Amino acid sequence: MCGIVGYVGNQKAAPVLIEGLARLEYRGYDSAGIAILGVGGTQVFRKVGRVRDLEASLPKRLTGRVGIGHTRWATHGPATEANAHPQTSADGRISVVHNGIIDNAAALRERLAARGVTFTSDTDTEVIAHLIARSEAGTLEAAVLDALSRVTGTYALAVIDERHPDRIVAARNGSPLILGVGDHEMFIASDLAALVRHTTSVVHLDDGELATVTTAGFRTFSREQENTAKAPTSVDIDIEEVDLAEHQHYMHKEIFDQPYSIERMLRGRLDERFGTARLDGLNLGPRELRGFRRVKILGCGSAYYAGQIGASMIEELARIPADAEPASEFRYRNPIIEPDTLYVAVSQSGETADTAFAVQEVKRKGGEIIGLVNVVGSTIARDSDGGVYLHAGPEIAVASTKALTHMATGFAMLALLLGRVRDLSISDGQRIIAGLQSLPGQIKEIVSEEAHIAAVAGGLAGAQSLFFIGRVRGFPVAREGAQKFKEVSYRHAEAYQTSELKHGPLALIDETMPTVSILPDDELTDRNLAALQQVTARNGPIVVITHPGVIDDPAIPQITVPKNESELDPILLTIPLQLLAYHAALALGLDIDKPRNLAKSVTVE
Ligand code: F6R
Repeated sequence: MCGIVGYVGNQKAAPVLIEGLARLEYRGYDSAGIAILGVGGTQVFRKVGRVRDLEASLPKRLTGRVGIGHTRWATHGPATEANAHPQTSADGRISVVHNGIIDNAAALRERLAARGVTFTSDTDTEVIAHLIARSEAGTLEAAVLDALSRVTGTYALAVIDERHPDRIVAARNGSPLILGVGDHEMFIASDLAALVRHTTSVVHLDDGELATVTTAGFRTFSREQENTAKAPTSVDIDIEEVDLAEHQHYMHKEIFDQPYSIERMLRGRLDERFGTARLDGLNLGPRELRGFRRVKILGCGSAYYAGQIGASMIEELARIPADAEPASEFRYRNPIIEPDTLYVAVSQSGETADTAFAVQEVKRKGGEIIGLVNVVGSTIARDSDGGVYLHAGPEIAVASTKALTHMATGFAMLALLLGRVRDLSISDGQRIIAGLQSLPGQIKEIVSEEAHIAAVAGGLAGAQSLFFIGRVRGFPVAREGAQKFKEVSYRHAEAYQTSELKHGPLALIDETMPTVSILPDDELTDRNLAALQQVTARNGPIVVITHPGVIDDPAIPQITVPKNESELDPILLTIPLQLLAYHAALALGLDIDKPRNLAKSVTVE
């Protein structure tokens, strides 16, 4: 989705902004622009297409040291140069970049047009630029507040003004915005990825909060203009984590990160002596944990599938009824919030609008909600009552890989903790801990089979349509496998419960329709094998994701993963599916890190 960067300091602003925008490319966008405040006034450059096209269009001498930049993902009006940001006031004095949606933009446009304002774009953002320019308030801060008092909707915005050339004013309401604190320089960004090359000292703005940044530092304040006196915090993020290193794509890098990132995630969180997990961030003691009679997990897309994996871990290990629901549905159905249910929001970005809204809905009705979130300090992390950080490191590729395995691993630890305050024995707890500790080494083994998986993927890439099947623990794995495959290869991939094949979808099976079967070595192996015969009997090609020793026929294409505890097997079974999707997309020559029509974090409805 859209990205914001801003800079004020002693360096030339343009290269800093361009570099920041390039770091935000992964979020998905269709146009980009910058505005630079220099001696002669503001210069605005906008371009449809890539940040590198914008960069190529810039004049050589662009010396201004204050500026704002934006990558736009079209919402109001098509992707054109006129609709790209920054948007400016009629006289060019005010420039604005904006993420989010202004709900009353149409009414405001009409009112402004009636007063003689001519609009040059279809955007809701242009309305803000005109409102600020027309405000009679004396300072830029007061003019921004004046404008914002007239708009309803969500925004993160950054504003520059030729009359106040030493500053950027930023505001946040429902869309993330972060300040980066440097040495006599300040940065603004909608995403940490744009800041990390420059600073790890950051300030997260809250909803309803504004900030002024100058070379002298920053001031945060409320809508009532009262200082909110935020202190910077240090973020634990490494520039190497956002660089491609030797990998061709971020998706590939992030798949190969997993052995190390999972090891990091587990560090200090497993208590071998008592066979339990230490999750201090939950802010829930044993008595409170014992009190929950149900667990409800809320997330979207792959996070929802991770939630389904988590629900079955919780049911198996803690014997508490648990289920997952898409947050995007939950928020609209006036959900019944029960006092003895533990609600869990799961999100990589921590900014997905549907999930963030579901968190608010639970809290508004007095429910207890914790977050399993990757991005530290994100909206969902801050709005939840407690939580477990995923520590996956930055996930840049649009298609989620390592975040999903971290979510599933986080759920395994939560299930272990909930189990151990109930009836799970110490020895069973220790069995799960040993399983968790084996994950990094086992993931290494799986990714070392890349060449074989790539060959299998090559065979699947030609199919127009595929089934991914699994049952019980394996079903969310199949759903995630289909999701990954369709996202990056644009092939139709549908997940089904293996048990449901014969109730309808079998009609589609023929020699052109491959089936990828999740077939672990567990209590359902024989049933799954029998179902697979229904496919092969109809000449359907198959690929089996399984454990060693399950399939003894070498003619059946298979990818084996090391066996772990049955409850944890889903974590490992997802890994070859990530590589399968990656290599199918690679064989098809597609834009793997930025699949068409998709954005990294969906911060609008
Ligand atoms: C799938 C994918 C999306 C996200 C979903 C939730 O590969 O990336 O389905 O999983 O949009 O995003 P987060 O986890 O940021 O809330």
